[in-house]
Amino acid sequence: MTAKILILDFGSQYNQLIARRVRENSVYSIIKPCSISYKEIKEIDPQGIILSGGPASVHEKGSPRCDRRIFDMNVPVLGICYGMQLIAHHFKGRVEKTKKREYGFTLFTRDAGSLLFEGISRRTFTVWMSHGDKIVKMPYGFKAAGKTESTPVASFENRKKKIYGVQFHPEVAHTQSGSLILENFLTRVCSIRPDWTMESFIEKKIPELREETGKEQVICALSGGVDSSVTALLLHRAIGKRLHCIFVDNGLLRKGERERVRLAFEKHFGMNLLVVDAVERFLRKLKGVTDPEKKRKIIGKEFIRVFEEASKKIGNVKFLAQGTLYPDVIESVSAKGGPTAKIKSHHNVGGLPARMKLRLIEPLRELFKDEVRVVGRALGLPEDIVSRHPFPGPGLAVRCLGEITAEKLDVLREADWIVIDEMKASQWYGKVWQAFAVFLPVKAVGVMGDQRTYENVIAVRIVTSSDGMTADWAKIPADILGKISGRIINEVHGVNRVVYDISSKPPGTIEWE
Ligand code: XMP
Repeated sequence: MTAKILILDFGSQYNQLIARRVRENSVYSIIKPCSISYKEIKEIDPQGIILSGGPASVHEKGSPRCDRRIFDMNVPVLGICYGMQLIAHHFKGRVEKTKKREYGFTLFTRDAGSLLFEGISRRTFTVWMSHGDKIVKMPYGFKAAGKTESTPVASFENRKKKIYGVQFHPEVAHTQSGSLILENFLTRVCSIRPDWTMESFIEKKIPELREETGKEQVICALSGGVDSSVTALLLHRAIGKRLHCIFVDNGLLRKGERERVRLAFEKHFGMNLLVVDAVERFLRKLKGVTDPEKKRKIIGKEFIRVFEEASKKIGNVKFLAQGTLYPDVIESVSAKGGPTAKIKSHHNVGGLPARMKLRLIEPLRELFKDEVRVVGRALGLPEDIVSRHPFPGPGLAVRCLGEITAEKLDVLREADWIVIDEMKASQWYGKVWQAFAVFLPVKAVGVMGDQRTYENVIAVRIVTSSDGMTADWAKIPADILGKISGRIINEVHGVNRVVYDISSKPPGTIEWE
């Protein structure tokens, strides 16, 4: 049985990071809202519990709590920031508001002998702090394990009950030895044998997928992106020819995508692949439409129609495989502390399974994106697919402003290809979240030879981000931008101007739409 760490969410922005850090130590972890019932916690049967940070104060009315019985389950507990204060509060310590918030890099001095800090040679090291409360009276049965200049109890422990607390954030990269502190909690306090690896995940998943699908046929919408590619490959390993992949060419794809997908999945992996040429259909539906939301709706609806028709050709299908990932299914706790239980449906193929009376199969729903990439590599997926940038479901439509026409898409596709090509050639591709071209709905004056020109403008958008929720424009060296611009203007017919987008998100978004 795989050991599990349960992370109770008290509204911290770092929750997914805690889960990922635990998993990087080869221990499986799940995140649940702090409000889940004791019964549910017992059913999860964790080998350790981490109480996350959060923006509230324990002495505020209505601040988030978890079931108190977790402290009597004989399961080790680690409280981080708010989680530590909650432990203090529960065991009759005293937590008070500080005059000044402690935020950012702070020097932490550990006491000798704590299991959490074993293997750290320095007595004093840098940690990342973000709190406005501190513990002024030690909770009953606890002893201090470390301090900072303004926080006399920045870590404590009750070794007998295996309950530990840190005021700082070990999950944040700025905390020195943060990963080792978590590892100590997992292996020394919880006594877990770390065995959660992507190889073990594949080994466990393949028989499960065989069992789940029985003798039935399964379809999968293959887009060529990382998530759907790994989903398809994993299922192919498990059920071989009972998997049927459908690739819809909607005319909004990157240059050469259809051929690349054929080569990788049909030729190389020998998978069943139905390629549907729906280019004309999509373009016809999009004719004359300029409103971005309308474009999205049309593309979503048409995709479902095309996909449904294609699946009828396959016949007698019972399951639809989808590349849903763990961040899509985590129930989140709002910043105010109240659980919001917002579960996102996958934005690209939402609505399909119910309409087609199919059962959904989501082999990656336990995984984070970086884990999906590791699974992909282990299954032999080519590196250029494993490490590719995210590409939106509606494709180039969100990058072709104004009315979409075949001619504009051709210009955009060529320009986009040059951006990607130069990013790869300069080794910048892997350092950014996304890099692409945008076709603007304006024309500008230029001069070529002795001729005045009046042609299209391409915007180049290159951003850094860790999850797409916020982003910054990438500080790409001027010579590389110059090369991209020069090549687009010289090689793409109908473009006489290239501009670089220097807006961050927020207030801008990554796509232009
Ligand atoms: P925005 O433009 O909202 O984009 O800042 C955030 C991230 O989401 C991607 N994106 C999509 N991905 N289907 C997708 O699978 C979509 O409809 C979609 N729209 C935007 C975008 O490329 C960026 O990475």
